[in-house]
Amino acid sequence: MIETRDLTKMYGDLYALNRLTLKLERGDVYGFIGPNGAGKTTTMRILSTLLNPTWGEASVCGYSIYNNAKEIRRLMGYMPDFFGVYDDMKVIEYLEFFAAAYRIKGPERRRKCDQVLELVDLGYKRDALVTSLSRGMTQRLGLARVLLHEPQVLLLDEPASGLDPRARIDMRNLLKELRNMGKTILVSSHILPELADICNKIGIIERGQLLFDGDVQTAIKQVRQNAVYFVAVGHEQNATARELLEAHIDVKTVEAREAEDCLRVTLADGVIDGSFIADLLLQNGLRLKMLKEEEIDLEDVFMGITKGITN
Ligand SMILES: Nc1ncnc2c1ncn2[C@@H]1O[C@H](COP(=O)(O)OP(=O)(O)OP(=O)(O)O)[C@@H](O)[C@H]1O
Ligand SMILES: [Mg+2]
Repeated sequence: MIETRDLTKMYGDLYALNRLTLKLERGDVYGFIGPNGAGKTTTMRILSTLLNPTWGEASVCGYSIYNNAKEIRRLMGYMPDFFGVYDDMKVIEYLEFFAAAYRIKGPERRRKCDQVLELVDLGYKRDALVTSLSRGMTQRLGLARVLLHEPQVLLLDEPASGLDPRARIDMRNLLKELRNMGKTILVSSHILPELADICNKIGIIERGQLLFDGDVQTAIKQVRQNAVYFVAVGHEQNATARELLEAHIDVKTVEAREAEDCLRVTLADGVIDGSFIADLLLQNGLRLKMLKEEEIDLEDVFMGITKGITN
């Protein structure tokens, strides 16, 4: 649905985008993650045909950004990171204005506007002035606006930025709803955890370069080679458990966690499944009280991949 090859944008001698190669299949929700200045907005502006690349290829639903801007705009909804709303306009008037721009006519126009308002849960603000909306509501209105012409592909530039925790959850649920409707979505954020559970793929971009392209689990593995498990046995069995684990070929190191009364076991390189730990301890007659894999902080994964370099 979206494909780019060696997409490059230069401003003077700065590479805002450096040979970006991306592919989104139908129904993909692709999290485009990177720090400020990474090139996220640049990519979206190019894909929405608002900005010309310096070189490289990009297409949406098979249409080239160079030759088929009109078709692309019809198929795509682009929600920029900042968009203006007009003073003295009611929510419904604002939507009708854009619906008219999309040439949605007659009773269909009103019906469509009400439909997208319901979808983003703003039906009750139908007659409020757009300037009276909160930031979260304005973002939802912006999303409603890009849904009017029923685009198959959505580009959403930091839809959750500036929202409070509650509004972020609302936005996330809304994205899930759009995903369930079968839309193909490219959504950006500068934080990974925010997108991790709604995206089936992520790309981590920095200084115009795609540092990672794949699923979240693979990103985690890339940053941390060794899986870590926490193991708790009967208090008096700690020493025995430790000896058994240390002697096992799939274990790299074992350290005691006095405070939690458990052992932290790092598996050998390349070993991901720690279920052998349970077998080992139980076969040796120990009482296994807890065995769980250490949760990985997605923020660490992001920092590990980007190393904090920005333009
Ligand atoms: N019109 C412009 N002229 C010069 N440089 C620009 C222009 N637009 C963007 N840039 C530069 O291109 C780089 C990428 O910018 P871009 O807006 O794509 O980043 P971003 O990932 O969207 O960042 P943010 O998270 O801050 O929104 C930055 O270094 C930026 O300064
Ligand atoms: Mg941006």
